[in-house]
Amino acid sequence: MRILALSDTHHPENDLLSLDRGVLEHRPDWIVIAGDMLDAFDEVHLAEYLSMLARYDQPKLCVLGNHDLWHEQLDTPPLFSRLRQHDWGKHGIHLLNNGPVMQGSTAFVGTTGWYDYSLYSAARDFPDLHVYTHDDFRNWEDLTRDDCHRLFVPRNRKRWSDLSESDFARKVIVIESGSELQSIHCNDRLYIRWGVSDSEVSQRFAADLEVQLKQAQDVADHVIAVLHYLPFRAGVMVTQDPVQAGFTPYLGAAGFGDLVCRFSKVKTLIHGHSHTDMVYRVGGITCYSCTATARLIEIET
Ligand SMILES: [Fe+2]
Ligand SMILES: [Fe+2]
Repeated sequence: MRILALSDTHHPENDLLSLDRGVLEHRPDWIVIAGDMLDAFDEVHLAEYLSMLARYDQPKLCVLGNHDLWHEQLDTPPLFSRLRQHDWGKHGIHLLNNGPVMQGSTAFVGTTGWYDYSLYSAARDFPDLHVYTHDDFRNWEDLTRDDCHRLFVPRNRKRWSDLSESDFARKVIVIESGSELQSIHCNDRLYIRWGVSDSEVSQRFAADLEVQLKQAQDVADHVIAVLHYLPFRAGVMVTQDPVQAGFTPYLGAAGFGDLVCRFSKVKTLIHGHSHTDMVYRVGGITCYSCTATARLIEIET
């Protein structure tokens, strides 16, 4: 089985030329897109994207990423439901968030995944770095110069290794390197509104995935899991750059990795979100971290 996998096209930011080339060169059996198809939700952009995908004869599988759910006004749960109900089939696409797909003895399962800051521990420590965190950072865009003078004081300073769940939940962390302050933003803060904590969102997506895995485990010999977010610490690049490392809490959740490892038929896992091209193995699972450049995955069936 030949799968052409890609992720994070962030339409209209990237074109699909790499997919065009990959389809011509490799003649895949399936096209798999691991989320962040759009840069933000927009009906016109979604319609454009789906009609571009409809040009390919291959069956297409996708999961929704966080950017597919980004919107300045809409709450995320109704938007997520609306996207699940979209007529994907009209374009030859199956949204794995809606359930698994079988072909012969192979099953594809998939969901968005989410983050619960558990992958932060995969980041290296920066013992000399000062980090500022404060509740007022939630309203970062409204901070005045006076606010900054009030906030960036030693009593709001922490060490990198002392950051906690409540610091990550604000989604703005400020680091002091030399005399410079640099802010790290997870912009889901502005465009995603689940109404519950990130760890609750992760648990809900994990429960969805578990239902699919149970279905697939009974009938398939080879299960291919597709997630937008990273399920394993092994997928987190170790970096010397504290700004890069500052995003690791938002890369995924280790609970998804623990879950898929409980199902022995899962032998392949495809994910996106980190915009990093990488292949790694965890136990009996080969993991493909995909980017907007399509990659061929060949699977013996
Ligand atoms: Fe992305
Ligand atoms: Fe993403």
